[in-house]
Amino acid sequence: MGQATPYREAMESERQDQAGKRVHVPQMPAERVEQIRRWHARAYREARAALQQEQTFAYLGRTIVVPPQVMPITPVSHLLGEAVLAEVGAQDRVLDMGTGSGVNAVLAAASGADVLAVDINPHALAAARSNAVRNGVAARVTVRHSDVFEFVDGVFDVMVFDPPFRWFAPRDLLEAATTDENYGAMTRFFNQARDYLKPGGRLLVFFGSSGDLEYLHRLIEASGFHRTVLARHAIVKDGQQVDYVALRLAVAGHVAS
Ligand SMILES: C[S@@+](CC[C@H](N)C(=O)[O-])C[C@H]1O[C@@H](n2cnc3c(N)ncnc32)[C@H](O)[C@@H]1O
Repeated sequence: MGQATPYREAMESERQDQAGKRVHVPQMPAERVEQIRRWHARAYREARAALQQEQTFAYLGRTIVVPPQVMPITPVSHLLGEAVLAEVGAQDRVLDMGTGSGVNAVLAAASGADVLAVDINPHALAAARSNAVRNGVAARVTVRHSDVFEFVDGVFDVMVFDPPFRWFAPRDLLEAATTDENYGAMTRFFNQARDYLKPGGRLLVFFGSSGDLEYLHRLIEASGFHRTVLARHAIVKDGQQVDYVALRLAVAGHVAS
């Protein structure tokens, strides 16, 4: 368990730099890349400015408190949250990858599932533990530090992942919630995900076209998953459309359940 499985060949969306490091090649026109850099810089400035503030959200019937340094609930979070509520059953074992405030771990546990919630951000781990207690589901939620699958054990019926959308290098833990250098973590996740899924297991994934959605689609395909769009929402930002999608993935051949 935990060994990368070679489901995919190198894609044209990556190259190696002189030191042999994998470098992400965005699957979009250069102007879109520049627009995404500007959006990212603005979002990071705004997040830094709000750094002293703890926020409390009434969200899908739960109360979620999000400290500074942790990804807040956003106006499109419910696309994934509602998918979790619809998909997860009381018998399920669920992995919440990159749990942040623990919001999706709390929703899954509120449906009766046993949940392992992991993140690399210690502030997120503390928040996820507090939110599990606050919502009366702590007995069903285990919170653990793990860099992707590093400290994940066993297999799961459902895995939930809302990965950082961007591929730039993060400067700190706050920024690591929204950007993953060269999509290293997201790529490792998809390389290994099938090893941690029970037969008939499903992935719920949230992403947006303010990241490289085309690259995500290629990773999904290369990992042998079939993708269904559960929910979609479009907004217009600075005159450009941004699409957000909640996806349900299942190993091709295990689509129905
Ligand atoms: C976009 S946030 C999503 C947070 C939460 N799941 C939600 O929906 O609000 C991405 C999360 O992934 C975490 N993360 C980033 N890199 C990671 C890695 N290598 N392993 C585990 N978690 C990671 C970040 O710390 C952050 O909490």
